[in-house]
Amino acid sequence: MNSLTAKKVLLIYFSLSGQTSSLVAQVANGLRDTGISTTIERLRPVTPMQFPFKSVPSTVLMMLLTFFRKRIPIEPLSPKCQDSYDLIILAGPTWSYHPSGPVLSLLDRDGRDLLSGQTVIPLISCRGYWRMHWYGLCSLLKKHDASVVNSIIFTHPSKEPWRTIGVFLKLSGKSPEKSKIIGKHYCKYGHVKEQQKEACRFGAEIGKALIDSHPLQNLNFQTPLTGCSAKTTS
Ligand SMILES: Cc1cc2nc3c(=O)[nH]c(=O)nc-3n(C[C@H](O)[C@H](O)[C@H](O)COP(=O)(O)O)c2cc1C
Repeated sequence: MNSLTAKKVLLIYFSLSGQTSSLVAQVANGLRDTGISTTIERLRPVTPMQFPFKSVPSTVLMMLLTFFRKRIPIEPLSPKCQDSYDLIILAGPTWSYHPSGPVLSLLDRDGRDLLSGQTVIPLISCRGYWRMHWYGLCSLLKKHDASVVNSIIFTHPSKEPWRTIGVFLKLSGKSPEKSKIIGKHYCKYGHVKEQQKEACRFGAEIGKALIDSHPLQNLNFQTPLTGCSAKTTS
């Protein structure tokens, strides 16, 4: 397929601690393997954000502010975002049960221009509690006349309560995986290699469906590896 006729996908995302960015890179690899043309746009806060946060109190404050959906202003999008795309994948982490501040700013400022009439698949990276984020995001996307055809959700695979404790400590600048007690149950922050491979497979599935004009709604992104195969998750 030549570059003029290739299907085009825009992957637009925010990532604070690198989890969403590696999933997005893998989805893009999978798409490219099938001949899809990909454009990746990372949302950049006007004031660069620091990860991890400075201390436990600053982590708690951030969680509180983000619970009230604090916006984080972002730099203007690159001109390439104005091209037309067959699909937009909008990706980012869950912050206190909501989309992250930079994604909320994107929706406020560019939602209508970028998303109106577009086919969108949201991709969420989170510790495990994504459902409220998902409903809120879908309703914002629909408000901007986007058509949400599917969703990709990856949760951190560690077991509770260690996952919540581990993420909180990691955000606060500690190393829970090195602690004698917590480290026995929590070996890694974030997603594992198998999940990255799964993201690549999802990219290839999307690519094939786009090329064959098959409905994206029919693709199954809820697998044991994403962490949300069970209907009751989250
Ligand atoms: C301020 C803040 C709040 C968070 N709140 C949630 C939450 O409500 N639910 C959840 O599952 N994960 C929550 N997380 C964890 C992130 O969603 C998770 O670590 C994600 O993989 C980070 O992705 P990123 O590295 O792309 O930023 C929170 C993280 C931060 C920084």
